[in-house]
Amino acid sequence: MEKQLGVGLIGCGSISTSYLDLAPQFKGFDIIACADLNMDTATALAANYDGLEARTVEALLASDDIDIIVNLTIPAAHYQVSTQILQAGKHVYSEKPFVLSLEEGLKLQALAKEKGLRVGSTPDTFLGGSHQQARALIDQEAIGDVLSGTCHVMSRGMEHWHPNPDFFFKIGGGPVLDIGPYYITNLIQLLGPVASVIAKSTTPRKKRLITSSPRNGDFIDVETPTTIHAVLEFENGALITLGTSWDVQAHQHSPIELYGSKGSLYIPDPNFFGGQLTMTSGPDKVALPEWQHPFAIPNQIHGDKALANYRTAGLADMIQAIQSNRPHRCSQELALHGVEVMLAILQAGETGQAVPITTQCEQPAALDGTLAQTLLRD
Ligand SMILES: NC(=O)c1ccc[n+]([C@@H]2O[C@H](COP(=O)([O-])OP(=O)(O)OC[C@H]3O[C@@H](n4cnc5c(N)ncnc54)[C@H](O)[C@@H]3O)[C@@H](O)[C@H]2O)c1
Repeated sequence: MEKQLGVGLIGCGSISTSYLDLAPQFKGFDIIACADLNMDTATALAANYDGLEARTVEALLASDDIDIIVNLTIPAAHYQVSTQILQAGKHVYSEKPFVLSLEEGLKLQALAKEKGLRVGSTPDTFLGGSHQQARALIDQEAIGDVLSGTCHVMSRGMEHWHPNPDFFFKIGGGPVLDIGPYYITNLIQLLGPVASVIAKSTTPRKKRLITSSPRNGDFIDVETPTTIHAVLEFENGALITLGTSWDVQAHQHSPIELYGSKGSLYIPDPNFFGGQLTMTSGPDKVALPEWQHPFAIPNQIHGDKALANYRTAGLADMIQAIQSNRPHRCSQELALHGVEVMLAILQAGETGQAVPITTQCEQPAALDGTLAQTLLRD
């Protein structure tokens, strides 16, 4: 039997509990320690999970029982913390966006290569059942050649729900870098790499009022555009419109629509693993072929909805990949290409000029239901 790898967390904020709640369903690793700039935050988190120990960041980095560290700090700290993790001789799996510049990404890539370590990054939602079914249908040319499409990720913002929402409105935040990764990563897994982008952007409100607890009434100075509309030209020739905004009260667009030479695919929200996929042949809706996938099965109740949430699937895949010496799907190359695309969208929004994309990446290998099952505990 393969050794269980020891995983530590750096960053014990909002998202850390999702990792701790969902990781036990996956094989190959145990999350055994956590650390944060604020030791009280780490101690409070550890108190809620059996077998989880709070350590200082330095102690976690020096721990012999830790093979991989998950970087759950804020975007502005990702590069520095991931560099420390690699320098300590541990693999890194980072929350998105894993770096905030191409230069940082290339430096991290070189360091990982020098140390013989892996870097992985979210989003991993593209491994979800409905997104993998969309991938299978596109690979089988069920809608022919994908010629164009639209994506919309628009809402009224983050300041009404997140307890500490400042970072969303600072450099490294904004809807392109915060929510865009889910859409752009999914488009790359479906269509391959991006060749160039054009965009326009605006910041309608320079200050945002926090209405969530405990900071209700505080204002945030907005330092990054909050409405950005882009067109992405893929290397395969597909043109995809991406509308992102935190200035929209309501809308009726679907998350992703892809228009092919034979039909269309309507893909559910790439921020989630499951959801309803729909396909047309010509103009007519058609029944989807049978598809069994464990990461499409609802396993959580949110309000009145049952959702499929398999967060940490990307980490489980990276751990299986380390153990079987194969590439991992939520790879550094995929994340870096995605970051370059997102930064290019922001640059194009500022300058009005088309921006060519310089990094390359392979489409991550598809993950059908049988392969996905091998990541789960029996
Ligand atoms: N909150 C969500 O629903 C959500 C969902 C998906 C992805 N994410 C991503 O997860 C990451 C973290 O988000 P969050 O909402 O948990 O943020 P958060 O602000 O709630 O928590 C971040 C934690 O990191 C700690 N930290 C910051 N810099 C550090 C450093 N240099 N060393 C050690 N600890 C440090 C902070 O003290 C804080 O406890 C972000 O990249 C975000 O995009 C969050």
